[in-house]
Parts: sequence; C-alpha cells; structure tokens
Amino acid sequence: MNPYETDKLLAEYLLFHFGSAEEILPAGGNGLADALDYPVRCVTECVEMAALPADARAFDLGCAVGRSSFELARSCRSVTGIDFSQRFIAAAQRIAQEGELAYAGADEGALTTQLVARVPEGVETSRVVFQQGDAMDLRADLGTFDVVLLANLIDRLREPGRCLARLPALVKPGGQLVITSPYTWLEEFTPRVHWLGGFEDAAGLRVMTRDGLQTALGETFDFVGVKDLPFLIREHARKYQWTLAEATMWRRRA
Ligand SMILES: C[S@@+](CC[C@H](N)C(=O)[O-])C[C@H]1O[C@@H](n2cnc3c(N)ncnc32)[C@H](O)[C@@H]1O
Repeated sequence: MNPYETDKLLAEYLLFHFGSAEEILPAGGNGLADALDYPVRCVTECVEMAALPADARAFDLGCAVGRSSFELARSCRSVTGIDFSQRFIAAAQRIAQEGELAYAGADEGALTTQLVARVPEGVETSRVVFQQGDAMDLRADLGTFDVVLLANLIDRLREPGRCLARLPALVKPGGQLVITSPYTWLEEFTPRVHWLGGFEDAAGLRVMTRDGLQTALGETFDFVGVKDLPFLIREHARKYQWTLAEATMWRRRA
C-alpha cells in the first residue's frame, strides 16, 4: 500500500505544509526554525519570480497536500498540482474549495491535537487545480509551463529518469525548472538500477545525484544554481525528521 494514503502521513504533511511555528516546534526548539516552511521556501528561494510573465503557468509535480502550489499562485496566473496520492489530492482540493481542512496532529501514542490547515493569506485559490496523476506517466495534454517544481519527488519514483525525460516537453523555452531532494535513494522506492546517483560507477568513481541530473537534463536545460534547503517534519511531539535537501535550478534552453 502507498504510505501516502494513510491517516498518519496525511496528518504529518498537513502539519508540515500548513502548521504554524508554535504547532510544529517544541519549546526551546528555535534552532530548528530555519527548517520551517519548506514548501513555501521551495518557491520563494528557488523560483525567480521577476522572470515570470504576467500570465505565467506553473506545474507542481508531486504536490502532496498543496502548499507550494498555493505559493506559486501568488505569482502565476494558473497552477496545476499533480500527485499520485488520491488522499493528498483530495485534501488539497478540500483546502482550495473550503478554505480550510481540520485534522489531528499526533502528540503522543493515540493522543492528538485538533489543528486546521488554511489557505495562506492572499492566495487566489481559483488559480490552482489539483489532480491525481503519475509523474512517470503524465497526461499528454498538460501543455507547457513557465515554471515546473519537483519538490522531494525524484527519490520516491520507481523510474525517476522517465519523469525527467518528459520535462523538456513540459517547460517552455526560457522557462524555469526547480528540483529539490535530499537524494535518499532507497530500493523500496527506486530499484538501484534507476538511481540517479549515490553509487560508484564501473571505474569506482563516486556518482553524485547532481551529476546524474546534469546527465539527464544537460542537453536541454542550463544549470542555473544550487542551494541547501533544510526542512523539518514533525512526526509527534517528541520526534522530528530534520533533513537537508539540495535544490537545483535549471533554465530550459530556447
Ligand atoms: C516526500 S513527498 C514530497 C511532497 C511535496 N512536494 C513536499 O515537498 O512536501 C513525495 C510525494 O510524491 C508523491 N509521489 C510518489 N510517487 C509519485 C508518482 N509516481 N507520481 C506523482 N507523485 C508521486 C507522493 O504521493 C508524495 O506526495
């Protein structure tokens, strides 16, 4: 079963995307504050807003419960968010339609606190459409986009190369591509033969995922830059996953 269809991960991701600092951080955990709001920072720190046209179209692939899609809607006239999980998409649609979604944040064992995920202030939800779909087998009629975001997706795909191979057709010439990932390659998600990096090649040289991305994208995209993006997922009141993702920024050659 896809773990992203469970109550546990749905609640974890609603808190991750929409929780306030007080809801997420333990008392005295302020050193972790730099890792808050990752789905927001994937947009604000990685997308060059000034380069977008007035009628920009954005695509958030692997959007989960939708926070980055909403943030893209601040600067883009239309945003498509696609995720494989029916439940994540249903939650994102509900937040867009109703303005909020109540959920139970895990505290300890079976104890929870009632929380509410709300559309961020100032976002026009009519600009955003959420759909269920497979990043490795996307519909043919999606069109082209001025900005495409793949946040924490590539190391969760069975064949990330298949997804990357579709990107030249999805990003407009001159358009932006942002890929963030901690490159946590696990055979349970991605058979080793499909890893983009994190292994030694036949000559014993270390292949890093950034090299694999360059190989997969280099013919059609120019590498623009790279940055570290920490993020924090609260599992319960006393357990947090702190992770340091890498963001790479690319521009589609004309
Ligand atoms: C680690 S989460 C990251 C989600 C979100 N972008 C974020 O940064 O919080 C990975 C997401 O990829 C989605 N996913 C996994 N396989 C997928 C596929 N084949 N096509 C589309 N989405 C997929 C999962 O449902 C999950 O929402």
